[in-house]
Amino acid sequence: MQPNIVVVGSLNMDLVVTTERIPKIGETLQGDHIHYVPGGKGANQAVGCARLGASVSMIGAVGTDMFARQIMQGLSEANVGTSCIEQMQNVPTGIASILHTKEDNCIVVVPGANGHCTAELVTKFEAEISSAKLLMVQLEIPVETVHFALQLARQHGVTTVLNPAPAKRLPEEMWRLADYLTPNETEFEELSGVSCKTDSELEQAMKQWEKKYEHMLIVTRGKNGCSYLDDSKLCTISTPKVDVVDTTGAGDAFNAALSVGIASGHGLLEAVDFAVKAASLSVTKFGAQSGMPTQQEINSAFQIG
Ligand code: RIB
Ligand code: NA
Repeated sequence: MQPNIVVVGSLNMDLVVTTERIPKIGETLQGDHIHYVPGGKGANQAVGCARLGASVSMIGAVGTDMFARQIMQGLSEANVGTSCIEQMQNVPTGIASILHTKEDNCIVVVPGANGHCTAELVTKFEAEISSAKLLMVQLEIPVETVHFALQLARQHGVTTVLNPAPAKRLPEEMWRLADYLTPNETEFEELSGVSCKTDSELEQAMKQWEKKYEHMLIVTRGKNGCSYLDDSKLCTISTPKVDVVDTTGAGDAFNAALSVGIASGHGLLEAVDFAVKAASLSVTKFGAQSGMPTQQEINSAFQIG
């Protein structure tokens, strides 16, 4: 089965500089390499879904520069539908400047064309959204656009996954338009204003949040796995041990697999478990989009099927 998924979101070219360590303020360091790899949370999630066999179409905006061409080509090769991506004159394609070390990375995103991904643009592709099984959105395009896309999906009875990354406080009613919300731990603390040092604090904060916003909350916790509530009880799926090469895009791999699982009609436990596996494999490879695992890779790494 190939669930039909639409992603409304960002497309970036990731300019990844690898270095021994992150420099101190004011310090100049010599780096090792520069890599140009297609990224952007929206595009990463779209590619992630396509690698897992979903039929995916992406709504977004790029410029007309060289990065745009490379991004579009990458998406086509990954089998992501690109007919709803607008190529805009006189705006640069979004970029992410990434400093990457073995342990950490720091990212500065310059939205460029992503900032021009407006509600008007999304309106043109209403039919694409209404015929989808599931809509995925993140917060790297204007908030009003995300809000509008969620409203459209709700109108048409389409299931929605909102990945609130990077974390932003949103209008109350926007949270309610999401069927699934997938912050990481830090983002959840920022959004809820509650510090969750222990499992029971996290459980309490999640309960309160779900009651208020009437959706399913799935909190990713890096190497500590991922938590959700089942009958108000905290369930945590642990992350398999892997050799970490690059964590960029791990959250995107998670969201992609979760959405494919949900859109395929799997229960939450199964979908979350699948997502944890996908995310853990993604960190064993370099690059965001280039690290998205296929169904086959997941099957063979975890001896499934
Ligand atoms: O989630 C990872 C992504 O965030 C990177 O690909 C980069 O483009 C930033 O937007
Ligand atoms: Na990766």
